Amino acid sequence: MNHKQSSRLLGAVLLGLGLCAAARAAESAPMPAPLRKSIELPVSNRVFPGDSAGAKAANAYCLMCHSYGMVETQPTLNKAAWLVEVNKMRGAFKAPIPEDQVAVIADYIAQLKGAH
Ligand code: HEC
Repeated sequence: MNHKQSSRLLGAVLLGLGLCAAARAAESAPMPAPLRKSIELPVSNRVFPGDSAGAKAANAYCLMCHSYGMVETQPTLNKAAWLVEVNKMRGAFKAPIPEDQVAVIADYIAQLKGAH
């Protein structure tokens, strides 16, 4: 073994030792307490009621981001206001709602909440 080879070998050995030491340090370092806590998120099994085209579209295109309860607890808005709202979901928040479903959904939600 010439000098160059032996110094390369020494480098590899030192690197190996360094990696082992780093791995052991990571293993023995205790996780900070807050990271070990588990949380349970609330689940929602509620859907937009009915089996009309509007209910189906709302269930298909609104529940992917928020719950039925979140929509249900909004103030009572008329169809025109829901049109603006659903279009905002499409435009600002990039909800993949087909254009021809916007009015169907707006009409459905307005009626659901007793406005027209
Ligand atoms: C791609 C995700 C996404 C989809 C799908 C989506 N929304 Fe939203 N929505 C959002 C975000 C983001 C906000 C803003 C939340 C905030 O401000 O905290 C929001 C807010 C709202 C609000 C609160 C008022 C407001 O304007 O901020 C209503 C009501 C609402 N959405 C209704 C709907 C309805 C009805 C549908 C189905 C037609 C829908 N959303 C689909 C993402 C989405």
